[in-house]
Amino acid sequence: MNMRAIIKRSVPLTCAYYLFDDWRARRRLAAGQLETNSGARHAKLDIDASLAYVARVYGDYLAYGGLQHFSGSVAEIGPGDNFAVALRCLGAGADHVHAIDRWVSRRDAEAQRRIYGALSEQLNLAHLFDGAPGEDTIRSLTYHAGQPAETFFCTCGLHFDAILSRAVMEHLYDPLTALDDMANCLAPGGIMIHRIDLRDHGMFADHHPLTLLTLSDSMHRRMTRGAGRPNRVLINDYRDWLERSGLTGELTVSRLAGVSEELDSAPWTALDKSAKYRALACVRAIRPRLSAKFKAMTDEDLAVAGLVLVARKNIA
Ligand SMILES: C[S@@+](CC[C@H](N)C(=O)[O-])C[C@H]1O[C@@H](n2cnc3c(N)ncnc32)[C@H](O)[C@@H]1O
Repeated sequence: MNMRAIIKRSVPLTCAYYLFDDWRARRRLAAGQLETNSGARHAKLDIDASLAYVARVYGDYLAYGGLQHFSGSVAEIGPGDNFAVALRCLGAGADHVHAIDRWVSRRDAEAQRRIYGALSEQLNLAHLFDGAPGEDTIRSLTYHAGQPAETFFCTCGLHFDAILSRAVMEHLYDPLTALDDMANCLAPGGIMIHRIDLRDHGMFADHHPLTLLTLSDSMHRRMTRGAGRPNRVLINDYRDWLERSGLTGELTVSRLAGVSEELDSAPWTALDKSAKYRALACVRAIRPRLSAKFKAMTDEDLAVAGLVLVARKNIA
């Protein structure tokens, strides 16, 4: 058995590894090294798979928001290695997209050019580029690389008609304060749409899926804050936030603990009964080992492993 497998089999050794890795990540950030493999989504996809992924993400945003298209100014948080979703927003009527990312995902320039070229041809988007389709030639896009959402929204002085993210909020080191700042940055009538994956992102892949919730707060913080690993802000926190936010919105469930298939996002009551039964059994199997904060939560809340948060600012 190799060293990695030995470490992964043991929870304490896995924690020790992540403590070390987070310390390394903080040093890299302090030195201004922003490269990351997180968000390098398109690296392993061929062109058809890339275009299908972009179509799915963009289509999901429209469906979650009940929208036909985006307009005005849009913020996309954590776009990862590609701005194709931003391009789709621009192509359908948005005036400007701000892409905000704490890091810069690794990417292959040539593969990226192929994606933009194919998208431009497929959807007649040549007018959105200053020259040949490529990352650097997209008009009306501002890339705020190296800016965490936590600092961007409280300092940008901008207002947005839409704020979007997918698979990002769980990486924020302070997502609830960032949500407050996003709410302040929403224009009247503006909408925010966040698809949030609450799983442990493989940290304890050889163990119970909720093992991350057995750690103390201070241990968890030291293992995750610098590297952007999952923050353990769960559905109850987002629900409380939504209630006090002054926005109008809803939370739906897109994943359940211990259930591998993605769900069509829906309120808890509308989810498949057998999937909920499996998720609740998964929660009960680990409940005695959870840290106090998570023991205090209901089985139903702990069973939610992915959610979609949609919130609108009322027009005064
Ligand atoms: C898992 S990737 C998701 C990429 C893309 N949204 C997708 O669905 O393919 C997470 C992205 O969030 C970014 N990220 C992590 N923490 C962040 C933060 N605090 N503020 C802004 N972006 C962050 C990462 O750099 C990365 O681009």
